[in-house]
Amino acid sequence: MNREKRIVLTGFMGVGKSTVARFLAVLLKCEKIDLDSFIEKNEGKTIDEIIKTEGEACFRQLETENLQKILLESDARIIALGGGAWTIEENRKLIKQHEFTTVWLESSFEHCWRNISSSKRERPLAKNKIYARKLFDERERLYCLADWHFVIKPELNSLELAKKIAEEVFSAKFD
Ligand code: S3P
Repeated sequence: MNREKRIVLTGFMGVGKSTVARFLAVLLKCEKIDLDSFIEKNEGKTIDEIIKTEGEACFRQLETENLQKILLESDARIIALGGGAWTIEENRKLIKQHEFTTVWLESSFEHCWRNISSSKRERPLAKNKIYARKLFDERERLYCLADWHFVIKPELNSLELAKKIAEEVFSAKFD
């Protein structure tokens, strides 16, 4: 297994980044950080509250600051980004500077929307399907810049997908 490699997982809201990151950390026996959870812990507020009370621009600033903190200070080998983090050029530069490999979980909009609409988690930037679809289409070309692309398929559950990523990106071997 490649013990040096560190990755960030990106992809649209509801694609399953946090779940795949959790399985990857178990399979590879390493630390993982979820950027949104890290921000919520640091700020003492939910992402929803931050965006609603302080606005998206303020959230983006906090997102970059917290991402930088993780990249500089943490030993985590796996970072799950929030869906918008990778779309910000400064964040992409930071991730590159810190030599993380980027993995895009690619899927259909309908897959993401099913998860968004059945989740208890508030997502202020995906309040309605038309707006979410617009964001999805706009972001596609930026997610495409990631080093690796893994397509979400119905026949592959999150654990199997995490195994595939571990095997292909980290050259891990499982029985
Ligand atoms: C956002 C995605 C969310 C969260 C915030 C903004 C986005 O994370 O960071 O609500 O702009 O796509 P998830 O991708 O985990 O839902």
